[in-house]
Amino acid sequence: MKHFLKETDLGPIELGEVFSLAREFKRARGRHAQGTLSGQTWAMIFAKSSTRTRVSFEVGINELGGHPLFLNTGDIQLGRGESIEDTARVLSRFVHGIVIRTFEHAQVERLAAAATVPVINALTDFLHPCQIYADAFTAAERWASPDGDLVAALRGRKIAFLGDTGFNMANSWILGASLFGMRIALAGPRGHEPGERIRALLKAEGRPADFQFTSDPFEAVAGADIVYTDVWASMGQESEAGARAGTMRPFSVTARLFAAAKPDALFMHCLPAHPGEEVEQAVLDNPRSVIFDEAENRLHVQKAILSVLSASRGK
Ligand code: CP
Ligand code: NVA
Repeated sequence: MKHFLKETDLGPIELGEVFSLAREFKRARGRHAQGTLSGQTWAMIFAKSSTRTRVSFEVGINELGGHPLFLNTGDIQLGRGESIEDTARVLSRFVHGIVIRTFEHAQVERLAAAATVPVINALTDFLHPCQIYADAFTAAERWASPDGDLVAALRGRKIAFLGDTGFNMANSWILGASLFGMRIALAGPRGHEPGERIRALLKAEGRPADFQFTSDPFEAVAGADIVYTDVWASMGQESEAGARAGTMRPFSVTARLFAAAKPDALFMHCLPAHPGEEVEQAVLDNPRSVIFDEAENRLHVQKAILSVLSASRGK
């Protein structure tokens, strides 16, 4: 049985399978029912707000013939102090899989360790792997020929990540770039550089920490195929918003900065965006901004991840 807590929980072969399935799901959408999760119920524990992740999982599980069960942590006993392990054991007696969005990544690891059904990380403070898979698929479907190899289309490409280089999206792109064979350059303020934890994870997996970190945003975007940013104050960091806006301002993706990447570079953002902060409205509106494709592809890619994990049950 497999969990999907981090990008590298699926190997290169499964990654290819996820991308191919996602392409099939996208093409077949609305044409026929896809019953991979027929008769299954998947619990969705959410301790943080969500639009894209929640809706794409609920719609996706439903489209695969399963039933999504949304559980706000405030409404279940987990929110009143029941342990994450007991929550995992109890839910495993009822449901066929668990999707969880929470703060501490360790909580998700503990949930997975105690669960007897697959667990999917729907965002922690450390990683957001479902987003990175959808982002990479979004770029690959632009770069590959219609039936071409989506994973191969990513190899050797460069992504530039600007702004909050010390949180979940940056960490996930560092790990994702390593898995996809991409180069990554990050530009952000001192004090928010990629931390020890992501370095330790790379080391534990035998992956070189060959990402570039710079305080010059123009250096980071030079030669980039993707320019990526995320909010400066993530969920749970609202009280730091003012201070972060001050230090991260030089890393805002302006039209001038975006123009310094490759002429055909894509702009990406996991959303929600704060126009005028981490990105200018003109960049969000640029024809090479693929932000809503990324959002849509959350659905197709997660259906593929759900299918691959569901098939791993009992193995
Ligand atoms: N990108 C993303 O995960 O969005 P939500 O917070 O709306 O789920
Ligand atoms: N870094 C953001 C991502 C939201 C999808 C957050 O954690 O709030």
